[in-house]
Order: sequence, then C-alpha cells, then structure tokens
Amino acid sequence: MEFILVTPQAQPHVALIQLNRPKELNALNLQLMGELRDALKELDENDEVRAIIITGNERAFAAGADIKQMAGKTAIDMLNIDQFSTWDQIRKTKKPIIAAVSGFALGGGCELAMTCDMIIASETAMFGQPEIKIGVMPGAGGTQRLTKAIGKAKAMEMVLTGKFMPAEEAEKQGLINRVVPVELYLDEAFKLAAEIAKMSPVATKLAKESVNRSFETQLDEGLHFERKNFYLCFASEDQTEGMNAFVEKRAPEFKGR
Ligand code: HXC
Repeated sequence: MEFILVTPQAQPHVALIQLNRPKELNALNLQLMGELRDALKELDENDEVRAIIITGNERAFAAGADIKQMAGKTAIDMLNIDQFSTWDQIRKTKKPIIAAVSGFALGGGCELAMTCDMIIASETAMFGQPEIKIGVMPGAGGTQRLTKAIGKAKAMEMVLTGKFMPAEEAEKQGLINRVVPVELYLDEAFKLAAEIAKMSPVATKLAKESVNRSFETQLDEGLHFERKNFYLCFASEDQTEGMNAFVEKRAPEFKGR
C-alpha cells in the first residue's frame, strides 16, 4: 500500500486506515481509492475486526478527487475508468466505518466521509462540495447523501456555491455525529468504535444494513443519475478550463460550453 496506512488492530477489534498523501492534502487518486477498497475488503473478512476508522491528518481528511489526474480526461475516458465500481465496493463494507475528520473534507473527501457510517470531526474540520468551482459537480454521491443529511436548501447552496461548512455548523445540521477539540478527534472516534465493538458483530452488521436500507433503493437511482451528469461535465470546455486553471494556479474563465 503506497497511499494508505492500515493497522488491523489499532485497538482490540478496531482497525485504523489512514489516508497518506499529505503533500497533496490526501487527494483521492485512483490508486489510493483502489488501495482503500482492498483494505476494507480484507478488514471486512477479518473476524478480529469489528469496527473500522478512516482518518487523514490534522490538515486534511481529503481535499477531493485528484484534480490533476482528472484534468485532461474526456467523458468517455471517465466512463471507461469506471472509478465508481470502487466506490460501490467501499459502500458495501458490512462492518461499521467511522470517519475521523480534521481539516478539509472537500468534494470526494466529503463524499468519502459521508459514505462512512458516522463522522467524528475536529473543530477545524471543513466540509464542502466545491466541484462547481472547477466546472463540474459532485460525482461520488454528494448530491444525494448531502441532501439527505442536511436537507435540500442547505445542500443546494453548498453544491451550487462550493461554500464550505465548518464542523460546528455541520454538527447542527446533522451531517456529523459530533465535533471535539482537534487533539481529541481520533480518541473520540476510537471511543465510539470501542463501544460498537462491544456489541454482537452479527447484530451490528444487520443493523447497519437495515439503517442503510432506509434510503438505498432511492440512492441507487440517485447515484445513477448523478454519475451520468458527472460524466457529462467532462464533455464541457468549462471542465477543462476549471481544472487547468486549478493546476496552473489562476482563476478560471467559464464560458458555459
Ligand atoms: C489534486 C490537490 C487537490 C486535489 C489540493 N491539492 N487539493 N491536488 N487534487 N483535489 C494539492 C495542491 O495542488 C497543492 O499541490 C497541495 O495539494 C496543497 O494545496 P494548496 O492549494 O496549496 O493548499 P491551500 O492553499 O491550503 O488550499 C487548500 C484547498 C485547495 C482549499 C483545499 O487545495 C483546494 O481548493 N483544493 C481543491 C478542492 C476541490 O476542488 N476538491 C474537489 C475536487 S473534484 P502543489 O503541488 O501545488 O503544492 C472531486 C470530484 C469527486 O472531488 C467526484 C469523483 C470521485
């Protein structure tokens, strides 16, 4: 594993996965996501593991999908890469996953946190779906999960403006479980994981599956719809302009085509 660190028994029955591309603010490139999928599959099959924590570092949980890797892609490239089959496998992990978030959780980073079952945040955490600023839109569940978590008006504003939501507000809006001082967010995630790890692993698995079932039928449809539109963004000049502008560290000029 090059981009993640895995500790299967960080605490009794609790595994820890740390996203580990610190210089790139843990931008989620395809290899990192593949490693995360493989690690989660292994931990899901390991009887000693009852709960999993995914974290980043103090500055960033993850600042999104890797824009540099996506910048030159066409809609058909994106369709063929089929990165969302990886996300689907992650979503199907049977054991509970807690995201321990500090710093930036943006774009795919926010979507990854929301794909987890619970979120513990440090007071420095910032959640956001800023894809609109680089000429695209959320593609890994953001339009669906954020809307279900915080309601249409707040989600629409975040998705259409790219504005960030600080941890305290995210707690008020029900996006996260709780916010704690920065030196405690990982401890707090471990405490929650330890509590869950005391329960029956079978009941835990079934309970997780059932809570998720409450919205999954609609989610499948929603994700399908979202993906088509995400791919379509890659047919636009604005996508190329937005991502190139980011890479070149200049303001983008969007033309609406
Ligand atoms: C690639 C990234 C990156 C990203 C940061 N970096 N985010 N590289 N993809 N998503 C890199 C920067 O280029 C830079 O590298 C280094 O990390 C540090 O970032 P800075 O911008 O210098 O830091 P700072 O000024 O503190 O700004 C932090 C930031 C900003 C506000 C988080 O980096 C930012 O706006 N990042 C992009 C956020 C975003 O748009 N996310 C959505 C991506 S699209 P160098 O080499 O220059 O030092 C998406 C789609 C998901 O997620 C759907 C499909 C899965």
